[in-house]
Amino acid sequence: MKVLVTGGDGQLGTELVLMLRERADLAVAPDLAELDFLRPDSIAAQIDRHRPDWVINCAAYTQVDKAEEEEDKAYRINRDGAREVARAARAAGARLAHISTDFIFGGEQCRPYREGDAANPLGVYGRSKWEGEAAVREEMPDALVLRTAWVYGAHGANFVKTMLRLAGEREELRVVADQVGTPAWTRDIAAALLRLLDLEETGTFHFTDEGVASWYDFACAIVEEARALGYDLKTRQVTPIATDDYPTPATRPAWSVLDKARIRPLLEHPIPHWRASLRAMLRELKS
Ligand SMILES: NC(=O)c1ccc[n+]([C@@H]2O[C@H](COP(=O)([O-])OP(=O)(O)OC[C@H]3O[C@@H](n4cnc5c(N)ncnc54)[C@H](OP(=O)(O)O)[C@@H]3O)[C@@H](O)[C@H]2O)c1
Repeated sequence: MKVLVTGGDGQLGTELVLMLRERADLAVAPDLAELDFLRPDSIAAQIDRHRPDWVINCAAYTQVDKAEEEEDKAYRINRDGAREVARAARAAGARLAHISTDFIFGGEQCRPYREGDAANPLGVYGRSKWEGEAAVREEMPDALVLRTAWVYGAHGANFVKTMLRLAGEREELRVVADQVGTPAWTRDIAAALLRLLDLEETGTFHFTDEGVASWYDFACAIVEEARALGYDLKTRQVTPIATDDYPTPATRPAWSVLDKARIRPLLEHPIPHWRASLRAMLRELKS
């Protein structure tokens, strides 16, 4: 199958392209010079040129805090760009998988969010992604939408790499303990998404790894697992702090665990616990 991946040099996009090529699928990943959501014509031009069976839309404006001051840019990429991808994919007869986020939820409940739960995004990033989902569904009602959360992997910038860097420099790390979610390794997300493509699924799905953690729990695990693997770390203590002690421009959901009951029975393998995947990713990064 031929797949065009937007955002193909981002965290998830890179993993998907590698995995597609490992499976001997044909993956094309135009770079920003060829495919720029801020130049909407370039979207249809690339999809027309490559005529893929599937488009996977991983491109996004993902800077959650900066989005508060760059609202127009965030909307142009996350909403208008997503709409244009869906429109162009439909016109070219391609299917579409669109990636979205737990940040469309407000975090006010304390049971895992199901696909049909009401959205209540708290900031510009979440709102622009929510409106992006809506635009995709409007243009292509049978699009596949995969929501994920707390994404990390070997490629690109993420929380795990930031913690590793800081743990190499500082004796103490202070990390927010009152925001709860579930980490998701790009390798696991990519495998789950490709399974949905193979099954030609449509509609909305949630996917992260299994389990629940606060950012503090996640940071403690990063330090413990990395040390066990022989990373050279200075950190002796990870201290839990409150969100109020670490103010950020964008408000984040306090609880953003995603319910995976819909996707679980479709997958070939059990979803790994986040800690097992973290260990595997750290091992990969070290080698
Ligand atoms: N990161 C998370 O924790 C997280 C959580 C939940 C959901 N998600 C969603 O998962 C998806 C993938 O996220 P990610 O973490 O892989 O993001 P990422 O690493 O920030 O990658 C984003 C990609 O989008 C591209 N991009 C940015 N502006 C663009 C534009 N104007 N035109 C075309 N492409 C553009 C980037 O290209 P350049 O590298 O050239 O800028 C990059 O390839 C996104 O839909 C995101 O909303 C992410």
